[in-house]
Amino acid sequence: MMSGMRGSKCTRVVRGLILWILLTNIMLVLYCLTNQTQVKFRDSQEDTCSLSMAKLLKQNVTTPAQSTKSQSEECSPTVDIMFMKTHKTASSTILNILFRFGEKHKLKFAFPNGRNDFYYPSPFLCSQVKDYRPGDCFNIVCNHMRFHHHEVAKLLPPNAAYITILRDPVALFESSFHYYHRAVPLTWKISGEDKLAEFLENPQTFYSPEAFNSFYLRNLLFFDFGFDNNLEADDPRVMMNIHNLSKHFDLVLIAEYFEESLILLKDTLCWTMEDILYFKLNARKSSSVSQLTPDLRAKALQWNGADWKLYQHFNATLWARVEAYGRERMKREVKELRRRNAEMRDICIEDGGAVEAQKIQDRRFLPWQPVGESSILGYNMKTSIDPKFKTICEKMLTPEIQYLSDLGVNLWLTRLWGWFKDTVFRI
Ligand SMILES: *[C@@H]1O[C@H](CO)[C@@H](O)[C@H](O)[C@H]1NC(C)=O
Ligand SMILES: *[C@@H]1O[C@H](CO)[C@@H](O)[C@H](O)[C@H]1NC(C)=O
Ligand SMILES: *[C@@H]1O[C@H](CO)[C@@H](O)[C@H](O)[C@H]1NC(C)=O
Repeated sequence: MMSGMRGSKCTRVVRGLILWILLTNIMLVLYCLTNQTQVKFRDSQEDTCSLSMAKLLKQNVTTPAQSTKSQSEECSPTVDIMFMKTHKTASSTILNILFRFGEKHKLKFAFPNGRNDFYYPSPFLCSQVKDYRPGDCFNIVCNHMRFHHHEVAKLLPPNAAYITILRDPVALFESSFHYYHRAVPLTWKISGEDKLAEFLENPQTFYSPEAFNSFYLRNLLFFDFGFDNNLEADDPRVMMNIHNLSKHFDLVLIAEYFEESLILLKDTLCWTMEDILYFKLNARKSSSVSQLTPDLRAKALQWNGADWKLYQHFNATLWARVEAYGRERMKREVKELRRRNAEMRDICIEDGGAVEAQKIQDRRFLPWQPVGESSILGYNMKTSIDPKFKTICEKMLTPEIQYLSDLGVNLWLTRLWGWFKDTVFRI
């Protein structure tokens, strides 16, 4: 009896492994195939958005000091935006805000082709943008990528606003570990109930920088920004990277101060309160979040020391911005944002809040789930909504993948992977 049970468990594991290897291979082949189809352009200085704009301006003999002065009193909303979408940082909620803003102003997004990211974890290349031709200009770049400033800059007008969001590295590490560990083979040999604790007790016994997908488990923010995620925190290159990054970004949001961050975003981009209304998207049910002991927290910080420095630096700059904006003014604005959000919640959401995936009735609102789990929450839209709010409610509640689809992005590779994931690893 016992050995029979163990036997069947064993075959299940073996079957799972074989399937996994098979699928990984299929995905790799597909990945290579799609990568090959990218057109390679000569890296010519002529071919950037800024230069094609400059050329246009030259052709136009501008009438001096006519257009610029009169507008400067009232700001006009920034429409050229680079949002560096980091992993596991509430960035999906920002993405939804950007999608809605882009639709409202009929802006041109630089989207990937066939999938929802720019060939992550490969570094970004502008040739990864769908239908890209050298010299093209876009308004918004916002899908997951491994950041590469020089390449991104080719797509946007020179005065585009660069925005990103960071999160406390311990919370981010916990979230990333939970979300991706099945896709990181080096975690498969970690035994015991609490793999996260086991890993943190002695990361070096499991971790190797070369291992497949290992970047998900160390300094993921540093990796996303295109830096070496295996630098030790006291390496001088860490602070140099951080300073270089701060030169490129106009505003760095912090997930722990999400509302304050959004108010600063509104202020920086000259947007309205309506533009930044949101429902928290892609959140995980609290029962699946591991509470780390202070000891493990310290270990996680040490393990992710480069990200910790990055976070502290930009947490400080955020609060300096709040100070400059005015603390009282900030308090009032945050209060108003909460009031408006609550108002939208009452209008749009059934039962007043997020529910587990199994309880979501309309697949349009079902968020993407990690491999082998359904821990990501979503919403049910109220069935009777005042018709004038129906569209805005739908948009605010639509998860990333479905929204990309609505915006016309072809997602065949993402969908294929989703189908495999849900068929093979369904629990
Ligand atoms: C001047 O620039 C505008 C756009 O800024 C363009 O529509 C127009 O065709 C240009 N005129 C000439 C003569 O190039
Ligand atoms: C920072 O930027 C400077 C100049 O742009 C560059 O020379 C240097 O290599 C960069 N440092 C790092 C650590 O990326
Ligand atoms: C972020 O900055 C605020 C304001 O200075 C401070 O209260 C908070 O402790 C900081 N958070 C972290 C994690 O450093």
